[in-house]
Amino acid sequence: MRFERFELERIQSEWEHRVQYNLAESGVMALQLSDIIDETDFQNQFLNQSLGYPQTNGTIPLRELISSQYGDLTADHITVTNGCAEANFITLLGLRQQQGDRNEMVMMLPNYLQLWGLGNALNYRMKPFFLHASETEWTLDIEELKHLISRKTSLIAICNPNNPTGAVMDKDTLKAIAELAEDVNAWVLSDEVYRGAELTGPITPSMINFYDRTLVTCGLSKAYGLPGLRIGWTISPNSEVIYDLWSLTDYTTIAPSLLSDMVATIALQPANRKKILDRTQTILRKNWLIVSHWLKEHQDLLDCIPPKASAICLPKYNASINSVDLAHRLIQDKSVLISPGDHFQMPNHLRIGFGYNGDKLATGLNLITEIFEGIN
Ligand SMILES: Cc1ncc(COP(=O)(O)O)c(C=O)c1O
Repeated sequence: MRFERFELERIQSEWEHRVQYNLAESGVMALQLSDIIDETDFQNQFLNQSLGYPQTNGTIPLRELISSQYGDLTADHITVTNGCAEANFITLLGLRQQQGDRNEMVMMLPNYLQLWGLGNALNYRMKPFFLHASETEWTLDIEELKHLISRKTSLIAICNPNNPTGAVMDKDTLKAIAELAEDVNAWVLSDEVYRGAELTGPITPSMINFYDRTLVTCGLSKAYGLPGLRIGWTISPNSEVIYDLWSLTDYTTIAPSLLSDMVATIALQPANRKKILDRTQTILRKNWLIVSHWLKEHQDLLDCIPPKASAICLPKYNASINSVDLAHRLIQDKSVLISPGDHFQMPNHLRIGFGYNGDKLATGLNLITEIFEGIN
């Protein structure tokens, strides 16, 4: 087994705390603890809390709060993990173990490439299907997907809302994917960590509503602005598979942090959850105006399909520089961090995060233009 370097995470880990303008963050500006809990409650609930191990698949109150977002599902249908990253990790590992000689993984691209790297390490035969750029949106060709699926398909991996494009697949598309998966009894692994960060329209539909052999991975890092808590989860209508996935966390991290479980339980109380997601959407809608104005001013250079959800967009640029070189020039010359398109298998694109402080975002965008002016 060999893990290829996860380039996207490496460049972010190395630079996000060293640059002045971090336009690589894909979630919304992080909340403070004091946004979630006041001082008196904090003293009452936290200061005398003994720091033993928590329930290792997440406390029942937390699992009940999360599962209540998914119709009839209960605390037994979910295991809480350290971030959506651990949820993806144990879920794919669990499927690989369970599925024996079914060794094909059909995966949506472009995408956050954690599952891609992990699939390769686990010796899956990787079969990509693509989101295609039309004039105004990213679309999926169901016929193309159909041709990739076989009796060897273990799972179809999707990311909805999508990182890096911000595309959202609607109910009809999800139903069509469910039908294709059902034909061969494959699983669908749906990473929905950006769900709740919609720029327009209602909340993105969850794949869980359309197919029983779905495993949804999610967490509080993006739409909820709480990445430092490292709270994620896998949820499925199939509680037996969830039980098996929980046992894999005995080998990874054993349990989520007790303090994070407690904060997450407060953040996900219905009134707090609503407040948090409203804040996210307000920031994103306001900041998207800054980005779209900038894109309009530089139409000759940049072409971008507007995102429907998430705090990111993926403009294509018209300049003769490789996207990784562009990212390093931006770091060195302007102290701006973006994510290179090549880290999503999308050369000549750059991913810009706009869930940021509006003034810093505007300055960062102007610095990107200055770099391009020096190239063209
Ligand atoms: C689609 C997707 N899934 C999972 C993750 C990892 O999330 P977390 O920070 O909750 O582990 C990310 C992080 O960028 C992501 O974009």
